[in-house]
Amino acid sequence: MTIKITDALVGEHGPLYAQLDRLATVTDGSVDAIQSCAQLLAAGLASHARLEDELLFAALEQRTGRDSLLEDMYEDHEQVDALLSELARVDDPEQARSLAARLVALARNHFAKEEKAVFPLAEQVLGDAELVRLGEDWEYRRLDTPFTLEANRQ
Ligand SMILES: [Fe+2]
Ligand SMILES: [Fe+2]
Repeated sequence: MTIKITDALVGEHGPLYAQLDRLATVTDGSVDAIQSCAQLLAAGLASHARLEDELLFAALEQRTGRDSLLEDMYEDHEQVDALLSELARVDDPEQARSLAARLVALARNHFAKEEKAVFPLAEQVLGDAELVRLGEDWEYRRLDTPFTLEANRQ
C-alpha cells in the first residue's frame, strides 16, 4: 500500500470526529455515560497523537526546528490528555459536562489546525516521497500501537 502519512492521519480524524460529536451530545447524560464515552475517545486519540508526535511532527521538527506551530500542536496534545485524565476522575455531573465540552472544543480546533495548517505545511516542507516513506512507517507502527490510553501515555 502507498499512502502519504498526512492522508492516513486525516483518515484517522474521521472516526475521532464522530466520537467527539457523540461526546458533545452525551453531555446531558450521567457522569458514567460521559466518562465511558470519553474513555473510548481517549483510546483512539492517544494512539493517534502518539503516531503524529513520533512520525510526522518529529520529521517536521528535524526540518523546521521546534517552531511555534509545532509547539502549539504538542501543547494541544498535552492539554487534551490532561482534560481526559481530569474527566476520568470527577464525580460531579456539572464538572463532567464542563470538562467534556472543553475537551470537544479543544480537539475539534486542534484537528482543524492540523488539517488547515500543519498537514499542508508538511506537504510543502517534506514533499511526496518523504510523506510516503512516513506513510510506510505509519502503516507498520499502526499495527503495533494499541488503542488504549495507558499504552500511549508518554
Ligand atoms: Fe494532533
Ligand atoms: Fe491529528
